[in-house]
Amino acid sequence: MKPIGPLMWEHRMIERMLAVVGREAGRINRSGKVDPLFVDAAVDFIRTYADRTHHGKEEDILFRELAKKKLSADHIRIVAELVQEHAFARKTVGRLVAAKERHLKGSPALEEIVECLETLVSFYPRHIEKEDKHFFFPILEYFSAAEQDAMLQEFNEFDRKMIHEKYGKLVERLTAEENSRT
Ligand SMILES: [Fe+2]
Ligand SMILES: [Fe+2]
Repeated sequence: MKPIGPLMWEHRMIERMLAVVGREAGRINRSGKVDPLFVDAAVDFIRTYADRTHHGKEEDILFRELAKKKLSADHIRIVAELVQEHAFARKTVGRLVAAKERHLKGSPALEEIVECLETLVSFYPRHIEKEDKHFFFPILEYFSAAEQDAMLQEFNEFDRKMIHEKYGKLVERLTAEENSRT
């Protein structure tokens, strides 16, 4: 398998989740009610899966390896755009979390919650299309078969660590909260 295989498979999963998010944004709009547990689940998916696991492999491994190659001006520009777009997604999720917190405290935040959800729903397909249709296949040309195999292996190792990182952080956070109460 080529290293872009798992990345493209992850894109399909992100698209499936965003379709659910889009429908939920419509429901919030119609009902005027937010389910904070849904927002938490969407934030967890985007932060852990789309950002840390998926963008993590792109930025920490693929883009790192690309930086060692002599890229065309076009590819240099696209990498910079993709990094900026990842940062934009992170910022939007941060705004969504802040809006949900305000909502839980009784302040009006429904419009911003819907706006953040809809921004993510319209942003990701464009970002994914840029990678799938204009980036992943041409940039494979920079790598030998052995380099591609090594990258795929590093992707697998990166994924293997993710679940331990996620739950390690959870234990750390809960322990810190426990200590701050005593
Ligand atoms: Fe990306
Ligand atoms: Fe991607």
